[in-house]
Amino acid sequence: MTTIVSIQSSVAYGHVGNSAAVFPLQRLGVEVWPVYTVHFSNHTGYGAWRGPLLAADDVREVIAGMEERNAFGEVEAVLSGYQGGTQIGEVILDAVARVKSANPAAIYACDPVMGNATSGCFVHPDIPVLLRDKVVPRADLITPNQFELGFLTHTEPESLEDTLASVDRARAMGPSTVLVTSVLRPDRPADTIEMLAVHGEEAWIVRTPYLPLKANGSGDVTAALFTAHLLDSGRAEDALAKTVSSVFALLERTLESGRRELQLVQSQEEIAHPACEFTPERVR
Ligand SMILES: Nc1ncnc2c1ncn2[C@@H]1O[C@H](COP(=O)(O)OP(=O)(O)OP(=O)(O)O)[C@@H](O)[C@H]1O
Ligand SMILES: [Mg+2]
Repeated sequence: MTTIVSIQSSVAYGHVGNSAAVFPLQRLGVEVWPVYTVHFSNHTGYGAWRGPLLAADDVREVIAGMEERNAFGEVEAVLSGYQGGTQIGEVILDAVARVKSANPAAIYACDPVMGNATSGCFVHPDIPVLLRDKVVPRADLITPNQFELGFLTHTEPESLEDTLASVDRARAMGPSTVLVTSVLRPDRPADTIEMLAVHGEEAWIVRTPYLPLKANGSGDVTAALFTAHLLDSGRAEDALAKTVSSVFALLERTLESGRRELQLVQSQEEIAHPACEFTPERVR
């Protein structure tokens, strides 16, 4: 059984960060150990929220305690997402080093959360620089959206060729695998959205309809599912097909519900048994 340590935020109401990632992973049969970086009432997209940001030292303590249980030998991946403060990056990298010393085959999957093309950057201005210069170089797998990929690589990718070139730059920084979400190339068919995965010698892209909603946490679910599926099969095509199929089903159901928060529990069957109705196309 795959075991993942997931270092992310938690919210009581709604689904982002670990509150978006943990349940789908568990539903897939993944053993997941959540480490929380904030405990907020709700995601910050509401404009108001309450609850604590955990001090980096407190997060470090939790990780130290897990290590003292000799728990890290069976961990296959450390997954990280939104970093609320500038000190948490170091704690995450330290956790990655500890896990890798217990299991050299373990990977670090980093979702370099900064913002998106519509909203711009929504994290503390120091965070993107920290991610680019310190954190991403130590990751094995990164899952930026197209906007974040641009920041990481000092590029502004639009076309498929641009995006592949930016991915090559990102891979030259360290990570061997890159999943680019929300790829919006100018020549795509109207009302569609794509996701691109580059792993080993191969690159695969997959297209779905674009749904009229912005559900916070879709990227967090995407990063978690892709990590788990890639660990499982080692094949980008397979991981991409399963991930996109589950995420699309989840977003479709969320749209139908008329609610603002991801309908994770309601979509659990589709998440666990993705229909794979979307077929990735090999582009390299
Ligand atoms: N409106 C949408 N219609 C169809 N698919 C979507 C839509 N929004 C997101 N997705 C799917 O979810 C994937 C991940 O979402 P997205 O790229 O928005 O994550 P993100 O930018 O990290 O956002 P967040 O962190 O707020 O969840 C996309 O690649 C796409 O496949
Ligand atoms: Mg994201």
